[in-house]
Amino acid sequence: MHQAFPVTQLRTDHDDVSEIIADLLADGVDREFLPHVEAHLPRLHDLFVQLYGERPDGRERLASVVDLARRSWALRPTELKAIDRERESEPGWFESERMLGGVCYVDRYAGGLGGIREAIPYFQELGLTYLHLMPLFESPEGNSDGGYAVSSYRRVNPKLGTMQELSELAADLRRAGISLVVDFIFNHTSNEHRWARKAIAGDPAYEDFYLIFPDREMPDAYERTTREIFPDDHPGSFVQLDDGRWIWSTFYHFQWDLNYANPAVFEAMAGEMLFLANQGVEILRMDAVAFIWKRLGTTCESLPEAHLLLQAFNAVLRMAAPGLLFKSEAIVHPDEVISYISPDECQISYNPLQMALTWEALATRDGRLLQQALERRHALPDGTAWVNYVRSHDDIGWTFADEDAAELGIDGYPHRRFLNDFYVGRAEGTFARGVPFQENPRTGDARVTGTTASLAGIEAGDSAGEDRVVLAHALALSTGGIPLLYLGDEVAQLNDYGFADRPEESGDSRWVHRPFRPAQNYADRADAGTPAGRVFARLARLLAVRRSTPELAGNELIAFDAHVASIVAFVRPGDAGFDVVVMANVADSPVTVDALTLSGLRPEALDLVSGAPTWLGAGLPLAAHEVRWLRVRSR
Ligand code: GLC
Repeated sequence: MHQAFPVTQLRTDHDDVSEIIADLLADGVDREFLPHVEAHLPRLHDLFVQLYGERPDGRERLASVVDLARRSWALRPTELKAIDRERESEPGWFESERMLGGVCYVDRYAGGLGGIREAIPYFQELGLTYLHLMPLFESPEGNSDGGYAVSSYRRVNPKLGTMQELSELAADLRRAGISLVVDFIFNHTSNEHRWARKAIAGDPAYEDFYLIFPDREMPDAYERTTREIFPDDHPGSFVQLDDGRWIWSTFYHFQWDLNYANPAVFEAMAGEMLFLANQGVEILRMDAVAFIWKRLGTTCESLPEAHLLLQAFNAVLRMAAPGLLFKSEAIVHPDEVISYISPDECQISYNPLQMALTWEALATRDGRLLQQALERRHALPDGTAWVNYVRSHDDIGWTFADEDAAELGIDGYPHRRFLNDFYVGRAEGTFARGVPFQENPRTGDARVTGTTASLAGIEAGDSAGEDRVVLAHALALSTGGIPLLYLGDEVAQLNDYGFADRPEESGDSRWVHRPFRPAQNYADRADAGTPAGRVFARLARLLAVRRSTPELAGNELIAFDAHVASIVAFVRPGDAGFDVVVMANVADSPVTVDALTLSGLRPEALDLVSGAPTWLGAGLPLAAHEVRWLRVRSR
């Protein structure tokens, strides 16, 4: 052990908790802070016992984490404490039909933090209530995995602005009704982080922050069961250091995984988390959650300890910055994705399954896999929500469960191959213009990149391209939770092939779908003679309807069998005597839902998008790629 203070182990009863609270009282603890500790320390203690019960320094570490929380609370600005109180009294605030997310790169979209501030009126025009700024911290020059290699969590990349500007921006956004979301990249740091430099310089306390091995023995043993995540960069999960040793790097070779088996790492990262919370960040996007705990002989993904760690971070947050939310980024098997979602762990989560299956349905013109996912994999615990998106800054991976697909007679492996070929433009008759990402010839694995407009057919000049963009968004806007727009997609931005000429981007095809702010498309957004104008007008209408449709809030969804393979259909029950029925036709040709199928619904419906009354008594015709949001009286 490297710490200077005396060491003691955790006890399994709650004597540790009582003692820590007694110490706080003796110290004259803030009266507002105390109830938070009383409410959450027992939980944190239990988690620590499970994670660090064997460690001789477990007890001391727990006490110092509580002290960290106390000091952080003391520094927490009054305005943020007011938000904490508001959120604690209205814990479901993020489930409202008014919630709408946007995501962008600070430099690409707006030049810097000042430019983001200038864009606030536009964000308000769209109705954003949540803005995810892509990683904006100090990171290595050149390739930094788009900022996901962090060299300091307390300094903003000087090209974008300063930490002071970030916290001022957070306040401006808040006044505009928009919550600032930033990444908490806590699985790894960059190799230029102060901790990493100390580790390399041989400081034993910091060597223990990472997973470093003298030779290949342990790396080989681990790699027998781990997956390759960025095979284009390096095979396996380790990279070799200049001195010949091997260090764990799940992603790029300059992103070094942290060793959470060491409670000093937990404490250090809790400090960075609380620092960010006090800058006015309201939602932390918990990056790469599946990878944070490692154990020999396992895949080292989604281990039980990964959950315990997240819950422990959550407990710390509840003590010192209770208004914040965690958003899980787990792009893994659907059973695992859901395992991160609970009020005590991550309250919100990307919904990669719905995202991927929306594209799957558009390619196959068959809605059944998506329909099945809505039926069986959409439900969530109370107090949590999906973040539904059409695409993100990352590639699309086909994360559906093979066993689900098998029930529909679909063999997962060839189906993924088909989808990859289709979306990278290799399949006969495809409308998509995507680019492959991390193709692994050994495993046959690959993922797909591309902007929504390029994947949906606008780039290829397919006449249904705009309809597909609208359909995909109409689904993300109506299944519940928080819809998230990739800014620029609302004006139909196309792929940026220029990435191939930029050395720091050319090796990573995800840059193809991270274009600079498409100024011309924005200039065209009122011009119905352009794809940008038409897509924008149609999406703006959907956004406006959504925010005035309370049935679309929350997560409750009842799948509706329309008896047509190309139709995805569901009911969003409301509590004021009305439901909203959503029907989307993914086919290239018109279909009709027959009257008998609809006979369980009241026949008088209101089409929320057009405002026209609609009679369901004689069946419902749907044009190719048409989506209807219909309000009907509840039965
Ligand atoms: C997440 C990010 C991705 C990044 C990776 C490593 O998956 O979304 O862009 O490459 O984490 O930080």
